[in-house]
Amino acid sequence: MQKVLVTGGLGYIGSHTVVELQNAGFEVVIIDNLSNSSMEVLDGIIEITGKTPLFEKIDLRQKSEVIQFFEKHQDISGIIHFAASKAVGESVENPLLYYENNLSTLIYLLQACNNYTIENFIFSSSCTVYGEPDKLPIDESAPIKKATSPYGNTKQISEEILNDSCKSIQFKIDCT
Ligand SMILES: NC(=O)c1ccc[n+]([C@@H]2O[C@H](COP(=O)([O-])OP(=O)(O)OC[C@H]3O[C@@H](n4cnc5c(N)ncnc54)[C@H](O)[C@@H]3O)[C@@H](O)[C@H]2O)c1
Repeated sequence: MQKVLVTGGLGYIGSHTVVELQNAGFEVVIIDNLSNSSMEVLDGIIEITGKTPLFEKIDLRQKSEVIQFFEKHQDISGIIHFAASKAVGESVENPLLYYENNLSTLIYLLQACNNYTIENFIFSSSCTVYGEPDKLPIDESAPIKKATSPYGNTKQISEEILNDSCKSIQFKIDCT
């Protein structure tokens, strides 16, 4: 059975994804620091699916804890990365929180992909990367424009981190 890490797996989108993964037969490990979720969500997932996902309360900004986690779970075959701060207004009030939380967590996870040869990585970006769009609805062919908030900028920078990593010869994961 393939083991998938869902970061932010007790959050709004992450918890639904965990349900779908478990129903599709994947073994799921959740990392969440409960900064915007609660343990009751885990109970809900168990009730809906009849299966108990592994859960680790880890703050992904703590690099040493992230390394310890991957040392313990060397059989992970994929990561779906939802954990982030996501409120546009709050990001204007406290941009450093957003840059720290949304960027350091991505960097540590990509380092883990490289070090533990985890070939599958899905990043939850945002339509805020398209800035002020020319037309609605926005589709993925829309041009990337300057983000209108620190939150949107963290997602733009995250996409650049992913692109640059994929181009680097030191990054062992095949991004094609
Ligand atoms: N909800 C939307 O409409 C929407 C739209 C576009 C993109 N997204 C993106 O999708 C992702 C999930 O969004 P959501 O609405 O489910 O958000 P959410 O806040 O409900 O879930 C995020 C989860 O991540 C956890 N988390 C945050 N920082 C963490 C950290 N440092 N370490 C461990 N856990 C941490 C929170 O406790 C929470 O449970 C986010 O990256 C968000 O930017 C959401």
